[in-house]
Amino acid sequence: MSTKRLSKVDTLRGEIEIPGDKSISHRAVMFGAIANGTTKISNFLMGEDCLSTVDCFRKMGVEIEVNEGSVTVQGKGYEGLQEPVHILDVGNSGTTTRLMLGILAGTDFHSCIIGDESIAKRPMSRVTNPLRLMGAKIDGRNDGDFTPLAVRGKELNGVEYNSPVASAQVKSAILLAGLRTNNELTIVNEPHKSRDHTERMLRAFGVEVLEEDTKVSLQGGQTLKATSIFVPGDISSAAFFLVAGAIVPNSEIILKNVGINPTRTGIIDVLIQMGASIEIIKNEDNEFEPIADIIIKTSELKGITIGGDLIPKLIDEIPVIALLATQAEGETIIKDASELKVKETNRIDTVVGELAKLGANIEATDDGMIIKGRTKLSGNATVSSHGDHRIGMMLGIAACITDGEIDLHDYKAIDVSYPDFFAHLEQLAK
Ligand code: S3P
Repeated sequence: MSTKRLSKVDTLRGEIEIPGDKSISHRAVMFGAIANGTTKISNFLMGEDCLSTVDCFRKMGVEIEVNEGSVTVQGKGYEGLQEPVHILDVGNSGTTTRLMLGILAGTDFHSCIIGDESIAKRPMSRVTNPLRLMGAKIDGRNDGDFTPLAVRGKELNGVEYNSPVASAQVKSAILLAGLRTNNELTIVNEPHKSRDHTERMLRAFGVEVLEEDTKVSLQGGQTLKATSIFVPGDISSAAFFLVAGAIVPNSEIILKNVGINPTRTGIIDVLIQMGASIEIIKNEDNEFEPIADIIIKTSELKGITIGGDLIPKLIDEIPVIALLATQAEGETIIKDASELKVKETNRIDTVVGELAKLGANIEATDDGMIIKGRTKLSGNATVSSHGDHRIGMMLGIAACITDGEIDLHDYKAIDVSYPDFFAHLEQLAK
């Protein structure tokens, strides 16, 4: 297992370019693969998760050229996808699994999906059940809830689906399957609006998508036309340095070209509410996804309550928000976040367990956690990512402010979304 020894830094100063957004990179490859023509993607995230998506679509006969952050996808339409001779291996990537299920359901061939140990524990019935309502034929462990999954592609029917969970992965899988129907597909009653990258990108590929609050619909049978996609920096990766800049003494960090899609900016709302010194300088609009440079400085912070509509806008940032809260005066309550239990790890358990090892005053609740600050974190501890990239990076930032060294086990898990994470941290450390 990979282990890295980490120690405190005096200050963090300088500018970094945040790598491409993971959600958008996955979608650009998938949509390019089912579009007609050549899709060019720039600032693509060269993380293991997105490369798993590339690998799966190559196994379905799609020509994909990857050259650092430039990716060219030769799409031949939905019909151009070929029956994979090999099993589609999604690695650690839930987004690949769930969105690809929506595509595979409407093909005319058979396919199998496997992933790593973490994927094998993540619930897939939230996607396979609605797809079955549309006529999909999917089987797997526990009646199609867990990988390995087998899909027999079929003609599908549009439905009106009442979504019980605010999940962009679920919504996106259903929308992608909806393209393969002859009627209308509607998703209603998402408890809170989830990220809308699929809706935005489908439009960029020429598909008409209607949206009204949390209701999304499209007419089946529409085809995608290839386009060019610039992938903004991932705000979920930027979040680690936003928190680092706020909690490490005497720091000032400039994060360049960060995506600020309003369905993703909960971390900015939280930093502002906690009293952080943060400045957002909006760039001229990228056509489909807004972008900004963000400046963060060391800040005096106060505890707040985070819940409700805000949760889907920051669900992936909660591990590092918990760390932030240890450095805020007073109590921070994170609630309505039981989705944390079905991420790459059970993030209520892993966040609380690992931060407690560093001396944080943190307690798990049924749907989140309560953190009391401000606590001086102490090192001389061994912590683990538990194979979860966001836990690994949160601990990497925690080590910047702990007295005494920290051994971080399984730090390589970070490569799924931010292979340059420690290089960027070293670049900023003065
Ligand atoms: C993602 C959606 C979120 C997020 C995940 C990526 C996406 O999951 O946690 O990292 O790309 O659609 P849910 O849709 O399950 O909330």
